[in-house]
Amino acid sequence: MIFKRGVSSSEVDSLREEIASLREEVATLRRQNIKMPDRVADAVQPVVELSKLSSALLPPVSFGGYSLTSSAALKLVRTVVERRPRNILEFGTGQSTAWMARLLADVGYGRLVSVEDDPEYYESIGKELESLPGFGHLELRLAGLKPLESGELWYDPSTLEDIADVDFLVIDGPSDRSARRPTFEQVVSKLVPGCDILIDDVHTPDMKKLVGEWLEDHPLDVVDANWRRERLLHLRLQN
Ligand SMILES: C[S@@+](CC[C@H](N)C(=O)[O-])C[C@H]1O[C@@H](n2cnc3c(N)ncnc32)[C@H](O)[C@@H]1O
Repeated sequence: MIFKRGVSSSEVDSLREEIASLREEVATLRRQNIKMPDRVADAVQPVVELSKLSSALLPPVSFGGYSLTSSAALKLVRTVVERRPRNILEFGTGQSTAWMARLLADVGYGRLVSVEDDPEYYESIGKELESLPGFGHLELRLAGLKPLESGELWYDPSTLEDIADVDFLVIDGPSDRSARRPTFEQVVSKLVPGCDILIDDVHTPDMKKLVGEWLEDHPLDVVDANWRRERLLHLRLQN
């Protein structure tokens, strides 16, 4: 069928399709316009809060793809500020290390041992972290991954023999998350009762499963189950 102005029905159909798809695009853009400020606020708010909690501004280590999200960093900083740990052990060096080192410099006491398995990254992050004022409270330690008796890979335990009395543990490494499984059995004897434990990446199915196993096998309490947003779970070793 031909319309008066010479437009065929197939052209009308294709125009209808185009209008429908444009309507969808407009609706999507409208939705994004409404959500966009929320997303920006979500990202900015923790950074503003962070700068209030520490006398120092953001450390010069950039938030990269591997780093904690800004809301996870805020939770980490808040927990350190509230709990005032003296002996922190961290697996997986990076932004979190910078924050904690700064906080220890703020209070003027405490020690942070941050364990890293990747030699190249250890070198480069070490150079960045050395320029921080908190560096005096920080010891970076290179510990390559090595098969344990069970055959599973984990940080070479001989590099951690002197570690004891840990009252704050951060688990954000190794980057190969399957190598995080032996963490508790390897470190539980080094933790003091009541030790605070923060675990990153808990939104991922493999970490959820792993945390479930840790909770079954070790005397751990969930302090703050509000991990969905921060993706950082707070546990505590029972007294
Ligand atoms: C999730 S990241 C550790 C992040 C750290 N806790 C932080 O807040 O930034 C875990 C591991 O990823 C590796 N990693 C982190 N950043 C990296 C980078 N920019 N390039 C290569 N590997 C990186 C390191 O081996 C690190 O121990």
